[in-house]
Amino acid sequence: MEKVLSGIRPTGNLHLGNYFGALQNFVKMQKENNCFFFIADYHSLTTHPTSHNLHANVKNVLAEYLAAGIDPEIATIYIQSDLPETAELYLLLNMNAYLGELERATSFKDKIRSQPNNVNAGLLTYPTLMAADIIIHKATKVPVGKDQEQHLEMTRTFARRFNRMYNVDFFPEPVAYNFGKNLIKIPGLDGSGKMGKSETGNNAIFLIDEPKVIRKKIMRAVTDAGPTKMNQKKPVSIENLFSIMKAVSSPDTVAYFDELYNNCNIRYGDMKKQLAEDIIKFTTPLRNRIIELLADNDYLRKVAKQGAEKAHESASKTIKEVREIIGIKAI
Ligand code: TRP
Repeated sequence: MEKVLSGIRPTGNLHLGNYFGALQNFVKMQKENNCFFFIADYHSLTTHPTSHNLHANVKNVLAEYLAAGIDPEIATIYIQSDLPETAELYLLLNMNAYLGELERATSFKDKIRSQPNNVNAGLLTYPTLMAADIIIHKATKVPVGKDQEQHLEMTRTFARRFNRMYNVDFFPEPVAYNFGKNLIKIPGLDGSGKMGKSETGNNAIFLIDEPKVIRKKIMRAVTDAGPTKMNQKKPVSIENLFSIMKAVSSPDTVAYFDELYNNCNIRYGDMKKQLAEDIIKFTTPLRNRIIELLADNDYLRKVAKQGAEKAHESASKTIKEVREIIGIKAI
């Protein structure tokens, strides 16, 4: 069985894009692989959340993962800061991570632009922490989006460098886990880009959103003046609504509105009403389960503790051997 690891920064609630792009696939993936899912709370400190927000978001993500069907009896689900071995490996990897390569990381350069007043060492060494997350378990597959591919490449560099430096064949070089055809990309509601990519929450439908919020967001989604020619190509904003509809509505419903569009008889208001109701039908059981889980702190704590123990089992073995290899050993 392949060891697969996935991490998510706890920055807010999860939305339909997270669900269809990742979570839904994780639920299948956990049955076929030895999966580690962790909540990267250390990583989110690079943007200085308040302690209240950090704590609340860690709980939210945990509840949302469980609600979506991540099974703590099958997979290992844990919180990054519960695994001190990661922090130790991060420190050790930093000794062999060079300023030049860290500065060249696209994500770092982006952050210099987006938060010029907070260019901290954690941001610079974000890729070494991510590498530590992955190789502490000797994971071989990592499901990542385009924006994380460079980090995975750097992880391979750090793993290879360690092996070469100490002349060992210790760390495997992890590669991307590819969902292939199963990968559904959910666009945002603002007529551009991915869901969740804008600063305001209005571009995304969160799993926890109440029906009336969902209706409001969908009714406000960007559209155009409507088709004027038969079988006209759809503009991006309309294509986006259809993409979301394909994920949550029945094929018949999608075909029905597609035909109306092609005949120039579509009324976007009607399509949006249908879409909102289908999203609500889809998210309601998830939302109810999330609320139930968030109210059961004892259970969440139990899951986190059990996850930390399982993760520790895997990580402590690695760090023990790493110390040996480096020469940190009993006198
Ligand atoms: N950097 C990832 C993101 O922002 C989160 C992350 C941290 C991660 N450590 C990881 C992802 C290890 C995969 C593996 O999406």
